[in-house]
Amino acid sequence: MPALQAVSAAAPLADNPVMPTSQLLAEICFLSAGITRRRSYPGGEILFRAAACTGALYHIDLYLVCGDLPDLEAGVYHFAPQDFALRRLRKGDYRGVLARAGGGEPSVVNAPCVIVCASTYWRNAWKYQARAYRHCYWDNGTILANLLATAATRNVPARVLVGFVDATVNQLLGLDSNREAPVSIISLGSGSPETPEPSPPIESLTFETLPLSKTEVDYPEMRAMHEASSLESDEEVAAWRREAERNAGRRKVVGAKEGRLFPLRPLSDGEIPRESIEDVIMRRGSTRQFSREPISFAEISTMLDRATRGISADFLSQTEPSLNDLYLIVHAVEDLPSGAYYFRREERALELLKEGDFRREAGHLGLGQEIPADCSVDVFFLADLSRTLERFGNRGYRAAQLDAAIMGGKLYLSAYALGLGASGLTFFDDDVTDFFSPHAAGKSVMFLIALGKSAKRKKGLNVL
Ligand SMILES: Cc1cc2nc3c(=O)[nH]c(=O)nc-3n(C[C@H](O)[C@H](O)[C@H](O)COP(=O)(O)O)c2cc1C
Repeated sequence: MPALQAVSAAAPLADNPVMPTSQLLAEICFLSAGITRRRSYPGGEILFRAAACTGALYHIDLYLVCGDLPDLEAGVYHFAPQDFALRRLRKGDYRGVLARAGGGEPSVVNAPCVIVCASTYWRNAWKYQARAYRHCYWDNGTILANLLATAATRNVPARVLVGFVDATVNQLLGLDSNREAPVSIISLGSGSPETPEPSPPIESLTFETLPLSKTEVDYPEMRAMHEASSLESDEEVAAWRREAERNAGRRKVVGAKEGRLFPLRPLSDGEIPRESIEDVIMRRGSTRQFSREPISFAEISTMLDRATRGISADFLSQTEPSLNDLYLIVHAVEDLPSGAYYFRREERALELLKEGDFRREAGHLGLGQEIPADCSVDVFFLADLSRTLERFGNRGYRAAQLDAAIMGGKLYLSAYALGLGASGLTFFDDDVTDFFSPHAAGKSVMFLIALGKSAKRKKGLNVL
């Protein structure tokens, strides 16, 4: 399946039983979180993974919870990229624990295998301090974009959940809730054999672990933020999901069009490059320098179109297929005036908010870096958090961040599939909202990605 088709494919239906094999799990783990590149530098070697990650600090781990699979015994496993191995933490079928902790969500109940993604804060927080809390969602989102595309190509149903009992997942994986946090759960496959009831007891895990560094700094804001959005019982999760589904019927009000409209002109399935998703993931990196050359309108149209065709997730629905709005600063796209735009998702069109050359402003918004000023287009994801929190309670914050980051990850893959470059970016939150206001007033920035043509790299190391 061509990469762009994989990125935009709807999750396969869970009509027939799909039993993952260890080969399939190996492919999914590798293409989502495996080591795909190594780069030497005078002080040593840097290992890069399949998905982009703030600071290349790779604080998100994958865990597998499965029943008996054709060639893998039931258990709870940790995926270790460094030696490309699964390490068994528990023997036995614990899927029932996750099915209950997920409030009985059918895709998890029917899944032969479930992946849990969890962050170890300190691996990111030593550099980014409390802001690492958002990076949990950003860096999980890029992994999930790869995972969903990889699963779709293999016809394996996969669905993302943010609603689960945090403490139960911590206990099952042996996570230290002061230092680690489960971020998302992904059901994989369908038509699971019955999960044994009751599940085996969850004894505490007593593996010896190596300290990450001599000392660690605690950032209480991260713990507070996580606790404030935690769900505490199976009943609370089930009620949360019911409430979210009920509210999904209330259609979001999109403001009337005020600016000039540019309908997208994306490449069709027959016109997209044929390169596979596997090859694109192996080739993907973050562009360190953009050339300021224009990309075509078909290219930006194709990227936006493919990245926004929906995600199978417990916080999204047909009526509301995203919790984020896309705002763009266009610097150099053929047949499109430079300026600030709003993506009218339902109409598949860009609305011009203000025309002009905003390279200097974009450079500032992206923390004074060259990348957002030199690329062809900056795509900002903004969420109306008050509306999201009203619908989902505090858990909505996690959902909004993850929603943006998965689409951001899809934009990364789409750019590389078209032979272009991309880079995630950090930003000044309020200045971005101000820049796109009054249209964006009241919204908060969740994610930023720069797209464009990569310049020939200057020699030297510029990794982080
Ligand atoms: C959400 C996000 C934000 C990022 N922010 C920046 C940034 O502000 N500046 C930058 O140069 N790179 C940024 N990056 C790129 C990372 O440094 C890069 O992903 C990491 O070094 C791994 O390299 P790779 O993407 O080439 O595999 C960001 C990446 C992500 C996913």
